[in-house]
Amino acid sequence: MKNIRRSLIAGNWKMHRTSSEAVDLATEINHLIGQETDVHVVLCPPFTALESVARLVSDSNIMLGAQNMHPQPEGAFTGEISALMLRQLFCSFVILGHSERRQYFHESDAFINEKVLAALKSSLKPIVCVGETLEEREAGDTGKVVKRQIQEGLNGVSKQTSEHLVIAYEPVWAIGTGKTATPEMAQEVHGQIRELLAQQFGNSAASRIRILYGGSMKPGNAADLLEQPDIDGGLIGGASLQARSFVELVEIAREKS
Ligand code: PGA
Repeated sequence: MKNIRRSLIAGNWKMHRTSSEAVDLATEINHLIGQETDVHVVLCPPFTALESVARLVSDSNIMLGAQNMHPQPEGAFTGEISALMLRQLFCSFVILGHSERRQYFHESDAFINEKVLAALKSSLKPIVCVGETLEEREAGDTGKVVKRQIQEGLNGVSKQTSEHLVIAYEPVWAIGTGKTATPEMAQEVHGQIRELLAQQFGNSAASRIRILYGGSMKPGNAADLLEQPDIDGGLIGGASLQARSFVELVEIAREKS
């Protein structure tokens, strides 16, 4: 079942690297990765580095993603970026609903849903992030929270476009903390997410959607996570800022796929 889904390793650089530093990091990654084709590799630098990194990876298999976008095609939204602007910079992916956006910028499921629909309409593949806080996990609410985020976040997505979706399960308590969900804990939630996707899109469409794990994934813990039947790759923060550890993760994903 798993091998109908190509593994995907995405680097979320967050607010790190100026445009010239981003070029250096992408150059190193590009060099180490060579002509990787078994694993989909996506780099998500800050907006200001998209153009320079796009130029650099244009003749490689590395794809480009943004970390956020606004749902409207254009307008008076100071400081925001539209899907078309990202498409013009050769972005294929966009991270939406990251827990840092939910927490610090108060993004609601409804707003994230608008972005998901807008991204799909512009042929950008959304990487939709879901995940519970420590408080929610301790209260036994993980399943409930993830169900709400998936159902509201994907409301109105058609079965036909669902194959372009990527979901990232990122327990908030594991992001940047060094704490990782155990492979069993992660698989349990990934399985639930696959089930929710099947309810909305049917089994066959759901079996094509990649579900990434995110939250302190690094070379030391990736193999056990990527071995799980519903973990199809990783959304990598800290470990994506070092070319060697990022490329090592790509290699582990290749072995496990
Ligand atoms: P981390 O971040 O790998 O540093 O935990 C993951 C993410 O926030 O996407």
